[in-house]
Amino acid sequence: QETEERTAAIVARFAGVEGATLPILHAVQEAFGHVPRESIPVIAAALNRTRAEIHGVVSFYHDFREEPAGRHIVRVCRAEACRAMGSDRIAGTFETALGVALGETSADGAVTLEPVYCLGLCATAPSAMIDGKPVGRLDEAAAARLAREIGR
Ligand code: FES
Repeated sequence: QETEERTAAIVARFAGVEGATLPILHAVQEAFGHVPRESIPVIAAALNRTRAEIHGVVSFYHDFREEPAGRHIVRVCRAEACRAMGSDRIAGTFETALGVALGETSADGAVTLEPVYCLGLCATAPSAMIDGKPVGRLDEAAAARLAREIGR
């Protein structure tokens, strides 16, 4: 109930705004840390769209999260410059060291590992972002050390 009410209050701020779908979803994610399942029907009704349409937008954009994130968030870049510098290996190292697959949150809720598509840190590829802090020139040893630093 509370989620629906809070979502409705957010949606109301965008009343009459053209093309408000993405701004609303961003605002909802900012408020809850993800886009809760319960928010979807509220947003759909306000925008005169179907639930499936809104859900489609949420799953299309990598920016949106449908489940609460872990306490730590590791985002590993999977775009071209980083791939060319071996980000596949770095992603694999993070998966092993963190004990969680790319795109997933560990069962204990401690950590989310997710792909991103360019962090604007191509000059230091392969790059990642750990709890909002950029890290670059990663190799397997550095990735394993970063995983230990967040308690894995
Ligand atoms: Fe990885 Fe730009 S491609 S930071």
